[in-house]
Amino acid sequence: MPKSAGYVNAEFLQKAAERVKHLKQRTYEWMDIKTGDHVLDVGCGPGMDTVALAALVGPDGKVTGLDIDEEMLVKADAFAKEQGVKGIVEHRYGDVIDMPFRENAFDSIRAERLFQVLPGPYDRPTVFQEMVRVTKPGGMIVLADTDWATASVNFENSELERRLMTFFALKMRPNGFAGRQFYQMFMQKHLSEVQIEHFPMVMTDLEETPFGEWLKQEAVLANIATEAEMDLWTRQLSELSKTGQFYSSANMVIVAGRKSINKPD
Ligand SMILES: C[S@@+](CC[C@H](N)C(=O)[O-])C[C@H]1O[C@@H](n2cnc3c(N)ncnc32)[C@H](O)[C@@H]1O
Repeated sequence: MPKSAGYVNAEFLQKAAERVKHLKQRTYEWMDIKTGDHVLDVGCGPGMDTVALAALVGPDGKVTGLDIDEEMLVKADAFAKEQGVKGIVEHRYGDVIDMPFRENAFDSIRAERLFQVLPGPYDRPTVFQEMVRVTKPGGMIVLADTDWATASVNFENSELERRLMTFFALKMRPNGFAGRQFYQMFMQKHLSEVQIEHFPMVMTDLEETPFGEWLKQEAVLANIATEAEMDLWTRQLSELSKTGQFYSSANMVIVAGRKSINKPD
């Protein structure tokens, strides 16, 4: 499939998994998993989470990962095989807007950094409704994503930094504000026991961020900043990064809630 704006490859996601391991752990806790459960990871990428979830559902349980990118699915299968959990974990091709699962199929489900890559035509409440549909009554739904409105880089020209961060959130991610939209979706669908937690992502290596060469090129192309401004941006930040002084941060948001047992949503 064609790669959309905001596409990140499997290697980036594998590295990022270490940086956000506390957030991942909390999403698993909030899924409230019991051994023998059948759980779903939507937008599973290279399988970092499906493999981790296998340990929680145990040999009598099942983990399904869904993704629309076949390359990711191949990597996810290889990782599950390497980790010896191929018998418990399956990775399936599909689109979150119309998942190939019957209703009430899963004990709990999660989606991490999926909503930020969903382009405009995807109606987000409809996507969320699809997640509610496939979750059993009483099951937990857990979403985690970045709110790129909180991105901040320590750079001496704050006006340029604000301009670039706004550009990044608005244009460089199909939905840069995903993290702050979840709570409203959970409340609209009347989920219960809704919980919210923020995880600050602190990045002290420019290479770990999406704010280096790529942003420089895109900002110049879009006339957001001049070449001279962007030369200064990358030069100064690279220097700070090399000397161990670079600092940037952004918040990730987790929202979890339980599907009602009583009334159909
Ligand atoms: C930023 S990656 C996050 C991967 C993984 N959740 C993680 O945290 O490592 C987003 C993933 O969502 C998948 N994705 C994007 N649009 C999708 C859609 N419409 N249906 C299912 N998966 C989708 C992408 O292929 C990609 O693997």
